[in-house]
Amino acid sequence: HLSPIDTAKFVAAKRACDYVEDGMRVGLGTGSTAAWLVRCLGEMIQKDGLRITGVPTSTRTAELARQVGITVTSLDEARWLDLTIDGADEFDAELNLVKGGGGALLQEKIVATASDRMIVIADKSKQVETLGAFPLPIEVVPFGWQTTKALVEESLSSLDVLGDSTSLRLNGDMPFVTDEGNHILDLHLKRIGNARQLALVINQIPGVVENGLFIDICDIVVIGHGNGKVEVKD
Ligand code: A5P
Repeated sequence: HLSPIDTAKFVAAKRACDYVEDGMRVGLGTGSTAAWLVRCLGEMIQKDGLRITGVPTSTRTAELARQVGITVTSLDEARWLDLTIDGADEFDAELNLVKGGGGALLQEKIVATASDRMIVIADKSKQVETLGAFPLPIEVVPFGWQTTKALVEESLSSLDVLGDSTSLRLNGDMPFVTDEGNHILDLHLKRIGNARQLALVINQIPGVVENGLFIDICDIVVIGHGNGKVEVKD
């Protein structure tokens, strides 16, 4: 009784659970696909007696994880994780990602980087030839964000990207505020020719905290299809 898109997300999440072993410290991603994962892990805890410690990447995920019976701890407590499983907004053939559509990119990147392995779970629609059709989220500190936005736009002129419009993410009439108290700029680039270079240039700008490009971080992508089939790329 699930829609094809929810079926795709569910089967990807379910398959990714095969990588979770007893005693592991697991980073828990954010978003609708990651929510399926958290629910699946909750079921494994209840039914199979799986014992894991979860490090959530957002307050939303922390709340859901607790609801389904996952023991939750902070990254400072866990320090290093065996595995992180998270969704993505886009992934390419090199398993580079765009993330942050849900606004949790900063904690997601810190947690994924602290993990021996990162697995992305995604429906087929997230697979792209070239990153960039999905607006690239940039987390910026509130102080002077308009200046930061202007500097980000200026930096794009010398880079291999298509498009340069930038918007402040809103929550109703107010700027969206991340779990870390920052704002998000969405870069409407259409196509990112050199993701590695763009990530470096953007992170050099004062006021930028982090960008949504995940390069050389993801090890495996589990792709779900609407008909229930699953593909694994590594
Ligand atoms: C959250 O900040 C994002 O990085 C998510 O991983 C991304 O938006 C995927 O969300 P869905 O699984 O809901 O598509």
